[in-house]
Amino acid sequence: MNSDDRNPIASGEATEMGSHAVPKDAARFDHQSHYLYQRVVDLIRNQIIDDTLNTGDRLPSLRSMSVQMQVSIPTVRQAYLELERQGFIQAKAKSGYFVQMPARRQIVSKGRSQRRQPCKVRCRQLLDKVYDAVHQPGVVPLGIAIPCMAQPATKTLHRTMKRVMTRTQEQILSYAPTAGDASLRSQIAFRYQQQFEQVHGDQVIITNGAQEATAIALQCCAKPGDIIAVESPSYHGHMEIIESLGMLVLEIETDPVTGVSIQSLEQAFARHDIKACLFSSAMNNPLGSLTRDDDRAALVRLLETHQVPLIEDDVYGELIYNGRRPPLARRYAQSDLVMTCSSFAKTLAPGYRIGWLLAGRHHERACQIKRALSCSSGLLQQLTLSEFLASGEYDRHLKRLMPVLKNNAQRMRAAIEDHFPHSTRVSQPQGGSVLWLELERHFDSRRFFDDALEQGISLMPGAIFAAADRFNNYLRLSYGHPWSDAMEDAIQRLGQLAHLALEQHPK
Ligand SMILES: Cc1ncc(COP(=O)(O)O)c(C=O)c1O
Repeated sequence: MNSDDRNPIASGEATEMGSHAVPKDAARFDHQSHYLYQRVVDLIRNQIIDDTLNTGDRLPSLRSMSVQMQVSIPTVRQAYLELERQGFIQAKAKSGYFVQMPARRQIVSKGRSQRRQPCKVRCRQLLDKVYDAVHQPGVVPLGIAIPCMAQPATKTLHRTMKRVMTRTQEQILSYAPTAGDASLRSQIAFRYQQQFEQVHGDQVIITNGAQEATAIALQCCAKPGDIIAVESPSYHGHMEIIESLGMLVLEIETDPVTGVSIQSLEQAFARHDIKACLFSSAMNNPLGSLTRDDDRAALVRLLETHQVPLIEDDVYGELIYNGRRPPLARRYAQSDLVMTCSSFAKTLAPGYRIGWLLAGRHHERACQIKRALSCSSGLLQQLTLSEFLASGEYDRHLKRLMPVLKNNAQRMRAAIEDHFPHSTRVSQPQGGSVLWLELERHFDSRRFFDDALEQGISLMPGAIFAAADRFNNYLRLSYGHPWSDAMEDAIQRLGQLAHLALEQHPK
């Protein structure tokens, strides 16, 4: 297709310039930090990423865009060619340019599911290294996922804590009740009720983060040697808990769009005696994908048919970009076989270590296990959170946080688009604070982790998101930080490293 065919409005200039000629003003550096054509690229690309422009929308003609952006027509043409190269738009003969999502760049399902066997977690050494890096001073922290740090609620939370300390005096130094402070339990239940969930305060057990909630839930329904099904990929903490309890992991194929494969799970039920499923069924970490309500309902129906309990990790439930909190999986259940684990670690303050468990029919047993494990959780943190929720500060904080996260996601995706090898696929997160990158099959994320750390950048190698050796050509990068030049620069350096890695260790 020649450039006249691409856009009839542009036909005159195309023949004069040639479609690849660099327009004079495009090479000019704009004081806002971009070449002019790049400004047009950024504007349109961001509108596509944040859904202002949708697949199939027609872009303005070269002429009208040049008037809107106050740049020359050749500059707009260069921008459109660049967007086409990146896969964001498509030229149609005699019609103009149209938006398309860059399918080439999306993480896609692997299609055929593979049979997996229950196994022990094999990446412990790598996990130790990764956790060491997280706490190394001075590194650019693209590893650990703490969405709330993109817009921390430091001042309001500190102020609330001071008020609580003044009010409670020495009483705050004591133990909290095992199941948690009654006011916090009620506040958590009240939030659920506002979302039409039937949760009462005395069904909530306060825990040390979602991690402890998950460990308790697992012990309620399984014992050492039992098989626990997890998503694939799956949050590495899940696999560590399963391993530390002497249980076995069975990975179930998980699609970036439709979630856990019902077919693979059915086949796994036929072959193995699965004692429980531990799924983040609404939003998967690291995929960042949001599973449709219908698919989650079908999943719960399948589990009920087999009478297998579902332990649902819902830590990302409040961090969905479209503003609609997904229903809890327990809403789809006819019986009482879903347990829910969540926490304030992703939304507000991971260091507080406050989470909770809705243990359903296992409530009494769960309280006993909680008492045996840690007696109770920190009272000061619980009362602070209770007041923070009751005052409306928590909602105000989430309102401020969400647009920052969404914007960070766009910026990081755009930076990856600019600097990583062209073959890299990137997830399109629907919430949370991580991107999941797929590189060419021979890419080694373990080696890449070491190289990046040498350059002062921490990240999560894909291999830790599976029990056995899978996802070694994947990376997880976190944008849960205020966006900065250091982040932009880190992505650029990682991109250069990735180019080098693929060149130095070819297929
Ligand atoms: C999916 C998921 N579940 C649980 C946790 C742990 O949460 P907490 O810090 O509340 O224990 C994390 C933290 O990264 C996570 O990503």
